[in-house]
Amino acid sequence: MRRERAKASAPGKVILWGEHFVVYGSTAVVTAIDCRVDVVCSLIGEGVSIRSGRAVCSKRGGVVRCSSSSAWRTLHPLMGLVEAMLSELGGADGVEVVISSDMPRGAGLGSSAAVSAATAKALSTLLGHELSPSDVKRWAMRAEQEIHGRPSGIDPHITTVGGTLTYRRPDTWEGIELPSSLRLLVIDTGERRSTGKLVEKVSRFAAENRTIFEELKAFYDELVKEALDTLKTLDLKRMGELMRLNQLLLRAVGVSTEDIERAVEVLQRSGAYGAKLTGAGGGGCVIAVAEDDELEKICERTSRAFPRVWVARCSEPGVRVEEE
Ligand code: PMV
Repeated sequence: MRRERAKASAPGKVILWGEHFVVYGSTAVVTAIDCRVDVVCSLIGEGVSIRSGRAVCSKRGGVVRCSSSSAWRTLHPLMGLVEAMLSELGGADGVEVVISSDMPRGAGLGSSAAVSAATAKALSTLLGHELSPSDVKRWAMRAEQEIHGRPSGIDPHITTVGGTLTYRRPDTWEGIELPSSLRLLVIDTGERRSTGKLVEKVSRFAAENRTIFEELKAFYDELVKEALDTLKTLDLKRMGELMRLNQLLLRAVGVSTEDIERAVEVLQRSGAYGAKLTGAGGGGCVIAVAEDDELEKICERTSRAFPRVWVARCSEPGVRVEEE
């Protein structure tokens, strides 16, 4: 049944092991975290209007109006998604989309995929359709392709289904049942970057250093097998060591930065078993594992150097309708 208004939320994610290598067919391990985006869709007279904080874009009768050029850059893939969904699902002359998020953007936590998935869910609910998870993913993937060019599909996938899972492109995945709850440290270095450019950077590295890249990838493929074993018992110490090794590989392919290296070092010096960048790198977030009862203390110790540090809960639920 069509509604006047519908709300949905979707989680961000951290990649525990395997960013970039996943683009080349390796298996990555990813978990949904307790940072969510909320999207509210409402019926309006005509056209599409999208608001995210102070950024607003609207399109009526083919005329686009935006609060700034950066608002257009951020919101136009979503505009395309909403228009395509309206034309495929029908049932409304106009829609307003309002996004609110407690997740930093462009920081490796998958905020764009979460926004797309929550929009697909809220809009389809508004129009009286119940989308299957694979349809939500398809719509979110469409927007990601416009944003990143060559996404592996890991972000649309995890934000749709949630939990913790292995992922291999184009669409092979297996859920991982953790033996107990898992929390991690996350530092946002504050450096913003573009996933598309970093994926291109790695692709240039791989083309110019074929043998070395193949060897790094083979090393990663061995590492992830052991990483999966550590998750069966939540062997935090070994998980940390494998994160350190994964970070060395990411540094070797050129996606680490001085700030990331500093964050990794501060976390490890403060008591974490291991830390690594998460997502595309080039800035963004760093994650670390430590004993659960040490997390808050490590947070405190690192917060002077990196004020944007917090403890995140893992294996959170995927996209869902929120009843208001
Ligand atoms: O867009 P991010 O920073 O959340 O990271 C995506 C992970 C990559 O492996 C770098 C790209 C991809 O599509 O898998």
